[in-house]
Amino acid sequence: MAILEIVKYGDPILRKKSEPIKEITDDVVKLANDMLETMYAAPGVGLAGPQVGLSLQICVIDIVPDGKKKPIVLINPKIISGQDKYEGEEGCLSFPKIFEKIKRWQKIEAEYIDLDGNLNRVEVDGFLAKAFQHEIDHLDGKVFIDYLPSWKRKLVEKEIKRRKKGKNW
Ligand code: NI
Repeated sequence: MAILEIVKYGDPILRKKSEPIKEITDDVVKLANDMLETMYAAPGVGLAGPQVGLSLQICVIDIVPDGKKKPIVLINPKIISGQDKYEGEEGCLSFPKIFEKIKRWQKIEAEYIDLDGNLNRVEVDGFLAKAFQHEIDHLDGKVFIDYLPSWKRKLVEKEIKRRKKGKNW
């Protein structure tokens, strides 16, 4: 396994739509394991293909429920439906030290292929639902600050510019 470099906001790959994965090859399995290792080391609860410089529809999530590791690998995932919006704090490994309150679905239904090639349809809620929505957004070239009102997003972008100037990004 290997730790991959995490791409920061400003890199155009974070704005690209990712390509579906056609086949679960050994390379895909290795990539998933490397992404998990990278996510745990960061540390974070989710990581998507574009964040490691690959425009592929894969993401890894582990919210470590009850303090136990429970990794989930999503291939070609889709949100089918959402219910009840709520606001909660969110961050992203591509936006170090930036946290903002974002509205998300409380409960979602999602579909994805797992590493065994099986199609899964799941219902998740709360923190896990938030992670699913955040990571799947990355595959569409979307990032969490897109949900902020424009005045707030401008403040965040100003802060990022300031940090880039100081080589602190
Ligand atoms: Ni993110």
